Amino acid sequence: MSEAKVAQKAPYGVEVEAGKKYFWCSCGLSAKQPFCDGSHKVTSLKPVAYEATESKKMFFCGCKAAKTAPFCDGTHRNL
Ligand code: FES
Ligand code: FES
Repeated sequence: MSEAKVAQKAPYGVEVEAGKKYFWCSCGLSAKQPFCDGSHKVTSLKPVAYEATESKKMFFCGCKAAKTAPFCDGTHRNL
């Protein structure tokens, strides 16, 4: 599998913490959306690391098609 699965056709709003590192699930298979749980091992896809610079709510892509991954860019509206 090299194509990502749509986890949901909407972003996940997450309150991130400054200085904390997050691993966004790019494959769509994780049970802990929007973050990686290791399920990508059966695919050729890898998680995308993101380190928060400030504490605030961020919208992580759930459809896995955003060009601004790991964040939503509205692409889900056209799926
Ligand atoms: Fe999807 Fe790790 S489970 S990238
Ligand atoms: Fe993927 Fe918005 S959820 S672009």
